[in-house]
Amino acid sequence: MIKLQQLSKHYGNIVAVAGLNLHIKRGEIFGLLGPNGAGKTTTIRMLTMLTWPTDGKALINGYDVTRDLNKVKQEIGVVPQQMNLDQELTARENLELHGRLYKQPTAERQKRIEELLDYVELQERADDLVSKFSGGMKRRLMIARALMHNPKVLFLDEPTVGLDPHTRRKIWDLIRRMNNEGMTVLLTTHYIEEAEILCHRVGIMDRGQLIALDTPEKLKRKVGEVAVESFEDTETGYKLFSSREKALDYAGQVKSNVLIRDTNLEDVFIELTGRKVGD
Ligand SMILES: Nc1ncnc2c1ncn2[C@@H]1O[C@H](COP(=O)(O)OP(=O)(O)OP(=O)(O)O)[C@@H](O)[C@H]1O
Ligand SMILES: [Mg+2]
Repeated sequence: MIKLQQLSKHYGNIVAVAGLNLHIKRGEIFGLLGPNGAGKTTTIRMLTMLTWPTDGKALINGYDVTRDLNKVKQEIGVVPQQMNLDQELTARENLELHGRLYKQPTAERQKRIEELLDYVELQERADDLVSKFSGGMKRRLMIARALMHNPKVLFLDEPTVGLDPHTRRKIWDLIRRMNNEGMTVLLTTHYIEEAEILCHRVGIMDRGQLIALDTPEKLKRKVGEVAVESFEDTETGYKLFSSREKALDYAGQVKSNVLIRDTNLEDVFIELTGRKVGD
């Protein structure tokens, strides 16, 4: 569904994306995880034709993002990292505008607007100005707008950043529901939990490169499923083990306080990069 071959983006001397090779399957929820500046947004911007690749190739459902611009535009929906709704318009007017830009026939456009307002639970606020919306409402409206023209692939850049836990879960439900109805989803996130819960596969990006790519379960198994944290003076030490027995063995030998827990994707990230997500 989405194919990247040696996809690269350079800004002068900065290598934002350094030759990505990736194949995302139809119906998959795929997550790009990585620290600030890893190249996640740049990757999405190339796939959504907002910036031109320096090198390499990207295909969406067989269409080339540098050649088949109109075809790609119909295939994809985009929810960008920055809020870019028209704040001086109402929710309904924002959807209306998008439908018109996509030249949707009036009847189809009106029907779709009502369906989507229901879908993201904004029907009651449909005629309020977006400037009066909360962050979560704006995000839901951005998702509705991205779905207006019935795309097959949805790109979401940090879909839940800055939202409260309850609203985040609502967005997760929405993403799952769209995926159950056949949508292929590519999202980026800083939230480890989000990637673990939502994504069928995760790509960990660092300095423009993919340093790991697998299901969350397999990534955790590869580095060891049980983590032992030990607290000594001011430092926290981590060690990962393939079984609880081995972890207990080690914990028994450590003199400081220890905590034994399941490995998470953050441990995978630290193990692979030596740094924490967000450092
Ligand atoms: N328009 C631009 N001009 C110059 N450099 C850029 C531009 N956009 C991105 N970069 C650089 O490319 C690198 C990757 O940035 P990008 O926004 O893709 O990272 P990210 O993984 O999305 O980070 P974040 O988690 O902070 O959103 C960074 O070093 C950034 O400074
Ligand atoms: Mg980004």
